[in-house]
Amino acid sequence: MRKKIVAANWKMNMLQAEAAEFVKDLLLEIGDMSAVEVVIVPPFTAIAKVVESLDKAQNIKVGAQNMHWEHSGAFTGEISAALLRDLFVRYVVLGHSERRQMFHETDEIVNRKVRAALEATLRPIVCVGETLEQRERGSVEKILSLQLHGSLAGLSGKDLHETVIAYEPVWAIGTGRNATPEQAQEAHAFIRETLTELSDATTADRVRIQYGGSVKVENARALMSQPDIDGALVGGASLDPRSFAQIVQAAANDEVVE
Ligand code: PGA
Repeated sequence: MRKKIVAANWKMNMLQAEAAEFVKDLLLEIGDMSAVEVVIVPPFTAIAKVVESLDKAQNIKVGAQNMHWEHSGAFTGEISAALLRDLFVRYVVLGHSERRQMFHETDEIVNRKVRAALEATLRPIVCVGETLEQRERGSVEKILSLQLHGSLAGLSGKDLHETVIAYEPVWAIGTGRNATPEQAQEAHAFIRETLTELSDATTADRVRIQYGGSVKVENARALMSQPDIDGALVGGASLDPRSFAQIVQAAANDEVVE
């Protein structure tokens, strides 16, 4: 059984005081929930405040939105895995489509970061997904395969088990237009098949694959009840503690038939 993982990607939002308030409200809603793995992914500037606010809530983890692949050195403006570990960060989102598009991150760069994260015992959440144009051209599988082979090159079975994949169709991010549960399931099943190619069936079966792209309270349950959808990477709807808490609850209860 794969434990569901639901992450709040705050992107470039949340002042420290807002982050502290969010954590307080979230804990009132879900407590130190252990049925689902919950990860809060603040901007770098709010990480320490989130860690401090979580206090004794051991089950809720903290992630970062990006990192550099080098350990330390003359890289002005960059943050390394070691600096993140120093703040008790456990996860790092890598290869988000906003970084691929706006900051020219290639699969090769994502791969360097993934390997550096794993070396530092940070768990990568590796984002893959097609654009609308690529979907309309019928190239979804080709794109996913290229991104997965490129971003995960050289990883051992153990590395893959530590890694989370996020399927985020670019056309669904921040648009209010989510993939249907069937479209998402099809892509997730293909991703799992590709993971089998990269390692073996047992390993592929253990890797968690999140869906991301306009996840909200209304569609969370239907998406996460699909057999290969093991959680959600939530952007917009994660800025409100109540709606994020409801998405977490949907992950906890997805076996309940409505
Ligand atoms: P969204 O973003 O939920 O606002 O669509 C998801 C993401 O970019 O991770």
